[in-house]
Amino acid sequence: MTPRRWTVTEELDHGQTPATQGSRIDAYVDRYAARATGMVASEIRALFAVASRPEVVSLAGGMPYVTALPLDMVGELVSDLVTRRGTVALQYGSGQGDPHLREQICDVMRLEGIQAGANDVVVTVGSQQALDLITRIFIDPGDVVLAEGPSYVGALGTFAAYQAKVVHIAMDDQGIIPESLAQTIYALETAGAPIKFLYTIPTFQNPAGVTLNMARRQQVLDICQRAGVLIIEDNPYGLLGFDGEPMRALRADNPDGVVYLGSFSKTLAPGFRVGWALAPHAIRDKLVLAMESAVLSHSSFTQLAVGQYLATQPWREQIKTFKELYRERRDALLDALSALMPPEVSWTRPAGGFFVWATLPEGLDSKAILPRAVAERVAFVPGTGFFSDGSGARQMRLSYCFPEPDRIREGVRRLAGVIEQEIQLRDTFGTGSTRGHIGVDTPGPDLA
Ligand SMILES: Cc1ncc(COP(=O)(O)O)c(C=O)c1O
Repeated sequence: MTPRRWTVTEELDHGQTPATQGSRIDAYVDRYAARATGMVASEIRALFAVASRPEVVSLAGGMPYVTALPLDMVGELVSDLVTRRGTVALQYGSGQGDPHLREQICDVMRLEGIQAGANDVVVTVGSQQALDLITRIFIDPGDVVLAEGPSYVGALGTFAAYQAKVVHIAMDDQGIIPESLAQTIYALETAGAPIKFLYTIPTFQNPAGVTLNMARRQQVLDICQRAGVLIIEDNPYGLLGFDGEPMRALRADNPDGVVYLGSFSKTLAPGFRVGWALAPHAIRDKLVLAMESAVLSHSSFTQLAVGQYLATQPWREQIKTFKELYRERRDALLDALSALMPPEVSWTRPAGGFFVWATLPEGLDSKAILPRAVAERVAFVPGTGFFSDGSGARQMRLSYCFPEPDRIREGVRRLAGVIEQEIQLRDTFGTGSTRGHIGVDTPGPDLA
């Protein structure tokens, strides 16, 4: 039986259409603070509405495959926690986070060469909250944040919410290009623009899937140290490498110049919402105060649950299980791309993490192609959502973390068919589909 087709515009109109939401039904549309104008739904959010149907192969979302966790064990662990330590687990905790968990976090970070004391760790509601707190304590409207181009859409949303101006640093398949970083810092300093920090995801980057090589790590550290630019190293995927030992973190070689953000979302489960920031003392103090003003304290319950998991379960083995599973899916995606994509399409080859970054031929626009792709039952994230300056029109993020290998192959087959048709359109009419008809907002340069 042929599945029923639908149009993306039809689907979005049944959900919340971000572009029209405010003006049609929001009586307070002219009362918001200026910073709220930067808060627009990302491409990913709008996509989830359409791509969550079972017949769509979603290469869009970055959801960890929690099905691979022994859920019975988690259930027992949580039940045991309430029975044995319920009065602590269900009570308020400290703003900095559970001291024992902070010790355990230091053990985890040691795998990436980081020597740190629990006193410098702040437990946060996922690393997303750490990003929010860092931005809150450093950014005044108009301040400059440097970030890879492309960069993590959730970080760009946070920077936009605090009215930062994001300046992208060029990267290639070895990560940030040091010369580009140095030149950009020099140009901004010469223009008198205050740079508050460099935000980077050096290992298995989201969305590009690339990793900053060892030689460049030292160069990036040196450039930032010389210029007095703080580095925010966001590393949720660092332990999910497919070959060899984990990469040495930037923080391992400059404890005073780097704030390191970590997370249990990808190595355990995002539902616990446990992440952390490791920061130099003075910054740590500010983070704790910001944390208290945001949420008083993190959930004691989930912190103790994660602590219990680390203390009693073979968590390194679990990470190995995740790595094997994601490696198989990465291989399925790369093999299918090689076998099926038109020759003009190129893509990165991640050595870990969740994402491949693909580039379409000249004249094609990934955002314009998306409705056609979804009608063909495959979804991806268009590249423009990963930039603050409107770049990325020819790019798309393909994630392999969630669908099973067969589904990945089928998704690529469908996507390749759509791209082939777009290339034919371009060759006939000089351009592929025109863009802008799905009503999804992206952070633009004047919002960041
Ligand atoms: C690069 C990056 N940073 C931070 C996060 C936020 O993760 P969490 O808040 O679940 O720790 C994500 C989630 O996908 C991410 O990809």
